[in-house]
Amino acid sequence: MTDTPLLIVGASVTDEERARLDAAYPSVFVATNADMANLDAATRQGIKAMAYKGHDPLGGDQMDLFENLGVIANFGVGYDAIDVDAATARGIKVTNTPDVLNDDVADLTVGMMLAYARDLVRGDAWVRDGTWASGKALPLNRKMSGASVGIVGMGRIGRDIADRLAAFKMDIHYHARSEKETPNWTYHADVVEMAKAVDWLVIAIVGGESTRNYVSKECIEALGPRGVVVNISRGTTVDESALLDALEQGTIEGAALDVFLGEPKINERFYALKNVHLQPHQGSATVETRRAMAEVQLSNVVAFLEGRDLVTPVN
Ligand code: 8YV
Repeated sequence: MTDTPLLIVGASVTDEERARLDAAYPSVFVATNADMANLDAATRQGIKAMAYKGHDPLGGDQMDLFENLGVIANFGVGYDAIDVDAATARGIKVTNTPDVLNDDVADLTVGMMLAYARDLVRGDAWVRDGTWASGKALPLNRKMSGASVGIVGMGRIGRDIADRLAAFKMDIHYHARSEKETPNWTYHADVVEMAKAVDWLVIAIVGGESTRNYVSKECIEALGPRGVVVNISRGTTVDESALLDALEQGTIEGAALDVFLGEPKINERFYALKNVHLQPHQGSATVETRRAMAEVQLSNVVAFLEGRDLVTPVN
């Protein structure tokens, strides 16, 4: 067994993130989960902590490669890629990086809604390519301020989104497991009933099996022809094939999406649609926030290896 206690996992781990982790503890890096099995037995035996980044499923079989693994510190608030039950069954703790990314995810949500409503991407293209100079005017677009919005999930991110949209004088509705203390926002125990009452539907729930297709075909159709689906959670939380059907058939007006099934190779039907605004899963992707997330991840690794309480435990 070697005395390298830290395994860093993920092709998207930056040099800076890796250097910071490595400065704290000797580490070994693998880009993919499949590479874990290629580490030699002595290295695998020495691993006590895993710094994990990415969305590839991490299951019990991979955890079993590391008999002394005690913590999986996820880079991200969402840990749906990690089989937490399998970790718990093996006495492995899982941690995440909540709160530090709420502002950025909420900012991007508002940005995507405005980009969709005000046709910002096409407007920019028309200025650059001379369409505007040639005398053509951008078709009138859609007012966002004052419209009705339903937020699916009133956790910390949902709340930050709602607070921002309230500043746009929007009529705020929300669906959550229980009613929360809010300003005069309307609570709906039933997500389909909420969809009937609003034009914009923003999805801000956790991912994973428990919420797969939570925004169902029925819910999407209930939005109606002015409806716009906004998703910043996970591709799994909406019935994506029903969403594509509704977008193609005009059952709803459009969508603004930062998350998809099978990222980054998303369903190519999206490419042909004019009524969608698409982003490459970049909700938390600012220099400031990614640094803060890296710090939370590192603080959990350090806490574990020093035998202290974890900072943001999940299980
Ligand atoms: C990822 C995210 O962490 O926090 C989350 O749940 O989805 C993102 O911020 C990021 O894409 C790195 O994998």
